[in-house]
Amino acid sequence: MFENLKAQPADAILRLISEYQNDTRPKKIDLGVGVYRNAKGETPILASVKKAEKMILEEQDTKTYLGSGGDPVFNELMQGLIFGAKNANHERIVTLHTPGGSGALCVAAALVMRARRDVTLWVPDPTWANHVPLLGGAGLTLKAYPYYDAKSKTVRFADMLQTLGSVAAGDLVLLHGCCHNPTGMDLDRRQWQQLATLISERRLVPFVDIAYLGLAEGLEQDAWPVRLLFDAVPEMIVAASCSKNFALYRDRIGSLSVIGRDRDARDILRSQAHNIVRTMYSMPPDHGAAIVRRILANAALRKEWEGEVDAMRDRLKAMRRLLVDALAVSAKGHDFSHIRRANGLFSFLGISEAQVDRLKRDYGVYMVGSSRINVAGVTADNVAYLAESIAAVL
Ligand SMILES: Cc1ncc(COP(=O)(O)O)c(C=O)c1O
Repeated sequence: MFENLKAQPADAILRLISEYQNDTRPKKIDLGVGVYRNAKGETPILASVKKAEKMILEEQDTKTYLGSGGDPVFNELMQGLIFGAKNANHERIVTLHTPGGSGALCVAAALVMRARRDVTLWVPDPTWANHVPLLGGAGLTLKAYPYYDAKSKTVRFADMLQTLGSVAAGDLVLLHGCCHNPTGMDLDRRQWQQLATLISERRLVPFVDIAYLGLAEGLEQDAWPVRLLFDAVPEMIVAASCSKNFALYRDRIGSLSVIGRDRDARDILRSQAHNIVRTMYSMPPDHGAAIVRRILANAALRKEWEGEVDAMRDRLKAMRRLLVDALAVSAKGHDFSHIRRANGLFSFLGISEAQVDRLKRDYGVYMVGSSRINVAGVTADNVAYLAESIAAVL
């Protein structure tokens, strides 16, 4: 039966991780995998998460089934976090807890396929490496809209508007809520407003993937584009991840919110989404939701977590400044200032694949072939070596 199957090519990031692990050079630097790291290069469990886990251990008295939508209290709290406290439990929004942001994307894709198989999903060029296989693999027709100009290292906003201004009414537009992966370049508020107007006028359906809430400018600030769109359109999809901002990567927790025109539409969306989950993985794992729920529902824990998100964001910004300053010294005549203008974990360095290879081979500096770097891999200790290595391959 399986003789027709051929091995898949190794995932680029997973291959990079194993190459990095096998590298014995003491100065090696990992800028590849997309996880937050502290100044020691570690991805620790947040203190707020540890406390929530302790509470779970003491309080939890059953592990019986939850249902396909997952934990309703988590869902309501996530609605408040994303759409604003006044919109927690809004009559147009159904929220499900999902296995990570990826799970939310899968369920959303299946829902769209049930609703309108002929629709096109417009995705930014470039976008997260897994968007196309995941959403395209679910059967959606994908087309790209221009997003990033590698030469000027800015968002191609006019081109983006022009393309989206001519797509069919009812088409979906995939938008990164903040901290665009892989470029780190986000729209400013004026651009979001223009985009929301275009989306509303052309009757497009926004599909926001927000995997880095809190890591650009702050939890409230980063949710602003989602709230703007929510007020502007009758229908919308929002996939959120708690992998990065709660550092719960392997616990697989995220949420899917689907917005309908009114309460009746919402009820239909809920029954469809639950049915999809039931036939896909039946129901989500609970541990991550149980943690997030305790943090968001407890004022003291929530404050502590907000402080931890602030600290992650502040460090990412500080490492961007540090790297740009070090490159200004080591790579005179080359402009890397765009790294400072980007948000979240990622930026394109803007070097060729051959230069990326040389950095790996000759200097033990690891990044994906597109020259996307994870700025969390930069530290005060490694930045000088990193900047000198980059300068050496330019
Ligand atoms: C843009 C984007 N969306 C979704 C995800 C999926 O996150 P999760 O690990 O929660 O599935 C990621 C993870 O890197 C991402 O960068």
